[in-house]
Amino acid sequence: SRKPLMAGNWKMNGSHLEAIALVQKLAFGLKEADYEAVDVAVLPPFTAIRSVQTSVDADRLQLLYGAQDVSQHASGAYTGEVSGAMLAKLGCSFVTVGHSERRQYHSEDDATVNAKARAAIANEIVPIVCVGEGLEVRKAGGQVAHCLAQVDGALEKITAEQARTLVIAYEPVWAIGTGEVATPQDAQEVCGAVRTRLAELYDGGVADQVRILYGGSVKGANIAGIMAQADVDGALVGGASLDPGEFVKICRYRD
Ligand code: 13P
Repeated sequence: SRKPLMAGNWKMNGSHLEAIALVQKLAFGLKEADYEAVDVAVLPPFTAIRSVQTSVDADRLQLLYGAQDVSQHASGAYTGEVSGAMLAKLGCSFVTVGHSERRQYHSEDDATVNAKARAAIANEIVPIVCVGEGLEVRKAGGQVAHCLAQVDGALEKITAEQARTLVIAYEPVWAIGTGEVATPQDAQEVCGAVRTRLAELYDGGVADQVRILYGGSVKGANIAGIMAQADVDGALVGGASLDPGEFVKICRYRD
């Protein structure tokens, strides 16, 4: 069975010093039993990853961490980019690829998302592949087709062996940062369809192993209903992950 994953996407928030303070509050709040029940990860800005690594190592925390983006290139003349090898060297377990904010503000298309996912995998970093429809698509009832097309695009040339460890996050754009959370049924509809598609794309039980997260205005007060859905294996949390008390509540959704 799949171990739930709660991942905090800090987005463009916090200095490296604020990151250390946040990790320390999480370290204080999260107990051994929490880590046994769920994997917990934070995704700080690039400038804070080294500091998070130092805190995690110094206190031997079970907290996992990662990045919010990775270059599709291995190294060289790509000003401003950060490679998968660099992230691996910092102990990153995860990297989000294809977040809607990158698709929207940085024109990342499915081919770019696929290249970034493969760059992560090449460095033994698990890509958290983000998919999700905008409001217009949702109003027209096209959410499943839209998200499955994004999944297909992101997984090109990714083998079953590589796909096994993947994480996919369903984040409806209209629910991100809006306070408008999808209903548990909305989340299940798309997450279930994604798992069915994985079963069509890959043999060997891959679909049963891949963790599928929901993201979009997740809070302590709404996480339990979402986690009760058969194909939702965790959450990708934005705003609420900057509040350690709230993020710990999300990790303890069973209470
Ligand atoms: P919010 O939780 O702030 O809605 O953000 C969701 C998100 O985009 C996580 O990647």
